[in-house]
Amino acid sequence: MYGNDFGEPVDDVSQLSDAEQQRRFDELIAADERIEPRDWMPAGYRKTLIRQIAQHAHSEIIGMQPEANWITRAPSLKRKAILLAKVQDEAGHGLYLYGAAETLGVERAELMDLLHTGRQKYSSIFNYPTLTWADMGAIGWLVDGAAIVNQVPLCRCSYGPYARAMVRICKEESFHQRQGFEILYTLSRGTEAQGEMLQDAVNRWWWPSLMMFGPPDDESPNSAQSMAWGIKRHSNDDLRQRFVDMTVPQAEVLGVTLPDPELKYDDGHWRYGPIDWAEFAAVLKGRGPCNRQRIEHRRKAHEDGAWVREAATAYADKQTARSQRGAA
Ligand SMILES: [Fe+2]
Ligand SMILES: [Fe+2]
Repeated sequence: MYGNDFGEPVDDVSQLSDAEQQRRFDELIAADERIEPRDWMPAGYRKTLIRQIAQHAHSEIIGMQPEANWITRAPSLKRKAILLAKVQDEAGHGLYLYGAAETLGVERAELMDLLHTGRQKYSSIFNYPTLTWADMGAIGWLVDGAAIVNQVPLCRCSYGPYARAMVRICKEESFHQRQGFEILYTLSRGTEAQGEMLQDAVNRWWWPSLMMFGPPDDESPNSAQSMAWGIKRHSNDDLRQRFVDMTVPQAEVLGVTLPDPELKYDDGHWRYGPIDWAEFAAVLKGRGPCNRQRIEHRRKAHEDGAWVREAATAYADKQTARSQRGAA
């Protein structure tokens, strides 16, 4: 129950004027409370969240592909079981996130269509190939590691369903990061060839991982609004710096060299060299090594799964008809 301007209780919030609804929304945001699906929200807030959550969901399911590539070639039964579990976790993350997006009034089928037709994006990192087993370690350590740094603040996102989905996702991501590090740690104590494979994987995944935080702050036009709405809590460059500071000491434990000659410790932080934003832009525009392959594979998986969706729908219809007959 909310009070109107005259201090009288209003039972039905839909009776409030737009200005009153906006004020109520602003108060919730200012108090750092959660916005829930039943609450009024500005159209821009809803649109921003749908886009962000959908692109996050797309990244989770497209991200299954580079690693699924190694399930049949994992070096042991134990490694295969761990990798399978990890790839399944990513499918689950996609599921929670598509569910969170649906609470904003968009259909999952519509979001899939936007992905399949290239009108919505997913994280560019998944357009790079996985060439060796060490890539499984590098993805867990660096890609899931970067994802955690990006996503932990989203557990406090102003939109309730997104924030709650992120809590569980972050727990699973930290398992992913550790399993990746453990793969690399094992390689680091192996043969010379395994050491070279480890270094090569880190050389290829380091810079794309830094790009995962998005463009530099001065070229990130939507960031300020997202911060004001409590969707985003830290700037791209702040999160990127946090990731670098966290990762450099771990690289020392692995005995690998990060491929950045300008990396140096200064005033409490590891300062890194310039990022190749031209490469980022090219991959984002579809010119990465695997963009086409990823989308083609996704479309085919969607078509191959059509019978599952049809069967589930037919079953749900049957259940509904049965319960209606029961009620009558
Ligand atoms: Fe994930
Ligand atoms: Fe993950």
